[in-house]
Amino acid sequence: MTPMRDVLERNRAWAQRMADEDPNFFRELAEAQHPCYLWIGCSDSRVPANQIMGLPPGEVFVHRNVANVVVHTDLNFLTVLQYAVDVLRIPRVIVCGHYGCGGVRAAWDHRPVGLADNWLRHIEDVAARHEAELNALPDEGAKLRRLCELNVREQAINVCRTTVVQEAWRRGQTLSVHGLVYALQDGLLTDLGYTAQGPEDVPKIPGAGAIAEAPA
Ligand code: CO
Repeated sequence: MTPMRDVLERNRAWAQRMADEDPNFFRELAEAQHPCYLWIGCSDSRVPANQIMGLPPGEVFVHRNVANVVVHTDLNFLTVLQYAVDVLRIPRVIVCGHYGCGGVRAAWDHRPVGLADNWLRHIEDVAARHEAELNALPDEGAKLRRLCELNVREQAINVCRTTVVQEAWRRGQTLSVHGLVYALQDGLLTDLGYTAQGPEDVPKIPGAGAIAEAPA
């Protein structure tokens, strides 16, 4: 069997299962989407947004890139964010990192990987801003895990600092930004407690002060 034929066959079996469970499923979804979450996650094949949240098509608007980085001038990301916030009025944004992230590891090791080095510089910046905290940790594994968490925190702050989110809060729109981390070993998400519900929860400068650390 050719690989593409395999894809199509699995697709037909899946569509049939969904239709068997709910004959109206595709017809209703085709009319409109009303997702509850915008997911900003890593491209890693082991961290698929819908599946790990246990949600079907229609529930999650998704943006993924290597190491879940939020860059202020990334037009691709900003377009996703603006559509999610301004048009779909999604009330919750999740920035989700994962332990064992290859992008975070490459940045930490300063291991050249080609063009992607330029992208991973953003994570090197995160590591540099938190050098003292990371150096105080006992071993390489602990440092890497903490850098994955700090990367989530900083990218969540970057989401909060976009004009899109700032404007939404200014006009009184309900919008919260949350930081989660996923463990490949057991499939479990942890809420890092980096939650922002308004501009008062966001430090002006990344690395200075804390985004509110109370559990969401
Ligand atoms: Co990753």
